[in-house]
Amino acid sequence: MASRTSTAYRCTECGWQTAKWVGRCGECQSWGTVVSSAENEGISRAVRATVLDAARIARPITEISSDVAAHWATGIGEFDRVLGGGLVPGAAILLSGEPGVGKSTLLLEVAAKAAEEHLRVLYVSAEESVSQVKLRAERTHSLSSTLMLAAETDLATVLGQIDAVQPHLVIVDSVQTVSSSSLDSAAGSPTQVREVASSLIRVAKERSLPVLLVGHVTKDGSIAGPRVLEHLVDVVCQFEGDRQTSLRFVRALKNRFGPTDEVGCFEMTSDGIAEVPDPSGLFLSRGSDAVSGTCVTVALEGRRALPVEVQALVVSTPSPNPRRVTNGVDSSRVAMILAVLERRARIKLSDQDVYVSTVGGVKLTEPAADLAIALALASASNDKPLAHDLAAFGEISLAGEVRPVSSSRTRASEARRLGFTTIIDDDVRQLVKALGRAFG
Ligand code: TYD
Ligand code: MG
Repeated sequence: MASRTSTAYRCTECGWQTAKWVGRCGECQSWGTVVSSAENEGISRAVRATVLDAARIARPITEISSDVAAHWATGIGEFDRVLGGGLVPGAAILLSGEPGVGKSTLLLEVAAKAAEEHLRVLYVSAEESVSQVKLRAERTHSLSSTLMLAAETDLATVLGQIDAVQPHLVIVDSVQTVSSSSLDSAAGSPTQVREVASSLIRVAKERSLPVLLVGHVTKDGSIAGPRVLEHLVDVVCQFEGDRQTSLRFVRALKNRFGPTDEVGCFEMTSDGIAEVPDPSGLFLSRGSDAVSGTCVTVALEGRRALPVEVQALVVSTPSPNPRRVTNGVDSSRVAMILAVLERRARIKLSDQDVYVSTVGGVKLTEPAADLAIALALASASNDKPLAHDLAAFGEISLAGEVRPVSSSRTRASEARRLGFTTIIDDDVRQLVKALGRAFG
């Protein structure tokens, strides 16, 4: 028989153990997650094997039907793309994102599309009143008689609503604002979030009902609540976007039913959220005159290649500490490229203020953007525009080499599709050669 552990308290978040109760976990630093082991687990007993009847004994994988994993399309192509084809019966999907990014708007659209197909949809709002949701639905033309609304914050009532409505799809907005009255802790605390999510997921599995949960994120961008939330659900989608721009990306971080390298692209409009099936061209400036300091690169968003224009401006400054201002690109990456340009290509910018930005505020995180940043800086420095049909991608090493990047064929063909026929990539091998070819 297993003996009881002498450590009496344990963190429900990460499992850290301590002999004395503390308000904050010493391991994961979460507040209010340390509870007594007895309360947490009860007293352990020896487990004996259950005698199984024939129907329950494990079967050969080849004989198991995979019907349960069939997707049904939501009708929003970009969302289906991220989900790997659509919703799966019994699947729990978590959509996380910053406040105001558009989670409620997107899910109301999903609800409306499903309701148009005569499916009964239960939309539980624990953040807004039903009339607020109705106002939004009017704006986005999402009114349908099979779209059922409830404003509830109590878990038991939400479960009661599911029993009463018998929906084909449930949306809960959000998992942090629903709470169970059987627990003492406040809504949004790790214990509550886990309880709410696991109850809803259990109902989803029992009824083969897809459940979409909205999740809040903390200041650092991670999903608020216990880490186990991500383990409990089948799919985690992250909703990203800059509040200054209307463009939004939905990315799958985890997907038990499909790939995680797909990205859905949306635009917030005055009447809801619109799909952007072809985002190429959004991140290019439309000026016809050639301007120095600009270069097009091809970024990879999921499996999609996206041409993005990088703009650079350099201005002489008497200051001993010239400014390095970046927007959409990593400033330390720009500092490195400036150093390589100076040492390997004799382009000196240490007495200049340098500004580097992307068009449309899109974020370039891949090293593949290095070459375009270097060419834009060189073009700004010698005030010579690059050819209007030029696109460049490649990672630059400290030694001044141009290194290959992933999916270069996809990038090149997308660039050609948009009319960028002069492509400079790792074929040139050296930064100096790339500069020679670009300004040839
Ligand atoms: P919302 O879906 O409420 O965000 P979340 O649920 O993620 O907090 O969206 C809020 C923002 O979206 C708000 O700033 C206004 C904007 N918006 C539009 O641009 N168009 C619309 O049709 C709607 C309903 C909202
Ligand atoms: Mg919302």
